[in-house]
Amino acid sequence: MKNLFSVLRSDDVADDLVRVIETIVDASKEIAFLVRQGALAGVLGSTQDENIQGETQKQLDVISNQLLKDLLLANSAVAAIASEEEDTVVAGNAAGKYLVAFDPLDGSSNIDINGQIGTIFSIYRVLDGIAHGSEEQFKQKGAQQVCAGYELYGPSTLLVITTGKGTHCFTLDSTQGNFLLTAGHIRIAQDTQEFAINMSNARFWNDNMRSYIDDLILGETGARGKRYNMRWNAAMVGDVHRVMTRGGIFLYPSDNRNAKQPAKLRLLYEANPMAMLIENAGGKACSETQRILDIQPTQLHERVAVILGSANEVSECLGYLQ
Ligand code: F6P
Repeated sequence: MKNLFSVLRSDDVADDLVRVIETIVDASKEIAFLVRQGALAGVLGSTQDENIQGETQKQLDVISNQLLKDLLLANSAVAAIASEEEDTVVAGNAAGKYLVAFDPLDGSSNIDINGQIGTIFSIYRVLDGIAHGSEEQFKQKGAQQVCAGYELYGPSTLLVITTGKGTHCFTLDSTQGNFLLTAGHIRIAQDTQEFAINMSNARFWNDNMRSYIDDLILGETGARGKRYNMRWNAAMVGDVHRVMTRGGIFLYPSDNRNAKQPAKLRLLYEANPMAMLIENAGGKACSETQRILDIQPTQLHERVAVILGSANEVSECLGYLQ
């Protein structure tokens, strides 16, 4: 079986970018170990702190963030990092060529119930003429990512990654510590009969979104003429991985629970990397109004509505929203 580095070499990935990916992978192997050890490693439960988004941080959020931060900042190719758990950008090596944005521990509410969790990351090139280590460096469209990926800490530890030449899935062989290729060039089915959304928010959606989901629920008796199944992991990595594996549509639409914050998922740490992975696997990823990868970020911790997965189903959904 091919390992991660032989696949990156055959995809012509530059050596310094490979080193950045290697650093992320090293951190994620440590996180995977801690996740497996769980209560035995004393990593479960919450801290007393809140992150910049006002969410109580779990111990594993803080530990995972620190691991990624320390290892990445020690890598001479890394110019700066931005993390969902950091208030601002953290500058790295002045001569570094790459910027790394990450959600160190996605799906935090699953930590204490032994459910699926993950790490999501995204890599950009440093922009010339913009202050080193500044927030402005990270205000690049998702289409400018040079690499995106996630690690899924489930029954197996998986790495799903793209450098723009297809989306590949690797499984961690814990006997050797290597990520081995288990699904190359993933292709997401164009059509699906499975959707993922947090239904408890239904009364807060706009009418068009409600009418789309209503039609899915009506199944073969409604406008869509086929029966749908629903799944919700409450961890984007888990839901997106299911879509990668057997198709589907994942939605976290805007809603009116909080007027100041209509969307939940973060553009830089969640939406952009997942959109690059999904598009490289033949799927589609949009906000309610445009392709996610074309959005011009205006803030580091910006949030966006996300609709992604099987291309034809995403298009159907957007049709309801027009
Ligand atoms: O952004 C964090 C996250 O946990 C995602 O991974 C997940 O899709 C979503 O929030 C779950 O949201 P909710 O708590 O509304 O189900």
